[in-house]
Amino acid sequence: MQTACESVAAYAARAQAVLPPEIWHYLDSASGAGHTRRDNEAAFDAIPLMPRPLADVRGGHTQLALFGRPLAHPFLLAPIAYQRLFHEQAEVGSAMAAEAQQATMVVSSLASQPLADITATGVDAWFQLYWQAGRDATLALLRKAEAAGAQAIVFTVDAPVKHATLALPAGVRAVNLGPDPAVPAIGPGQSAVFDQWMMLAPRRDDLAWLRDQTRLPLLVKGLLHVDDAAHAVAVGCDGLVVSNHGGRVLDGTPTSIATLQRFRKVLPASVPLLLDSGIRSGMDAFKALALGANAVLVGRPAIWGLAAAGPLGVAHVLRLLRDELEMTMALASCARIADIPSNYEPFANEE
Ligand code: FNR
Repeated sequence: MQTACESVAAYAARAQAVLPPEIWHYLDSASGAGHTRRDNEAAFDAIPLMPRPLADVRGGHTQLALFGRPLAHPFLLAPIAYQRLFHEQAEVGSAMAAEAQQATMVVSSLASQPLADITATGVDAWFQLYWQAGRDATLALLRKAEAAGAQAIVFTVDAPVKHATLALPAGVRAVNLGPDPAVPAIGPGQSAVFDQWMMLAPRRDDLAWLRDQTRLPLLVKGLLHVDDAAHAVAVGCDGLVVSNHGGRVLDGTPTSIATLQRFRKVLPASVPLLLDSGIRSGMDAFKALALGANAVLVGRPAIWGLAAAGPLGVAHVLRLLRDELEMTMALASCARIADIPSNYEPFANEE
């Protein structure tokens, strides 16, 4: 029997060792030259943490409330497609792990197991919605998520064109979706991007329409420009997931942590801002919280855990992140999430 991995980085190495190369590549790869993916992590690394010893942090905890619900800690599982690629227990395994670690799981539109099976684990589940080529098909998927007990909807808007970077093996498919939409034919001189794929993409009025279709909290994932974020809030969206999709869509975008700070400056303080893209440790989570995030989503690291050790691996990765966050809070004299300043300046008040 293999020994447990002792760090998130060790789970990455184990996942790479056990996954077939093409599946590791699908998980690990980023678009273009990978600048955004590298920049996300480097931006976190460049933020110093300032220890503040001698504080009394007894009785501290990481609890918070989001959309009226209590959470034990600020880590959610990010939506990751086709988890059967990584482990036979797939999304249900991730859900069991999230449940064991009191984490909310954001289930992808491209989940490879039925939504009802995932929510039957008892996990607190949100649903990540991809636009389904038209309003009727999108609404049908939204209703399916509501019926399965999703507690919030995360509408991902940054990846309207799905690049097939992997030929899915037999038996792995997006089982919760209807048949693939008919892609419009293009004539001579027309563009496969503008006249074909983007014909199936959502537009601004679709966002406003979607807002009116559900009473669940609606978050938009993948906006990076402040005007787009402000528009989403203006049409009634309840929060944003600040994300550049882990660098998998457009290479060369701003980092998620830099974007978070810009959004915090212009959006009302009451708008929940969640963040992903580059969270690799509890220290990163602390930095995100200290720069204005309400919570963070764990992407690739959770799947390293899933690939390396199934549900136990996901649960252990979450536990490692929670432990690191608690330790960082304690060393920074923050007994509670609310004690973490939301406009963090490590050298504030120094002459
Ligand atoms: C993703 N991501 C993603 N996002 C989404 O909204 N729906 C999806 O189905 C997927 N699928 C997916 C598959 C794989 C293999 C990866 C790596 C990522 C993006 C994901 O939710 C999140 O934004 C990124 O993973 C964050 O970047 P890091 O922290 O994992 O680098």
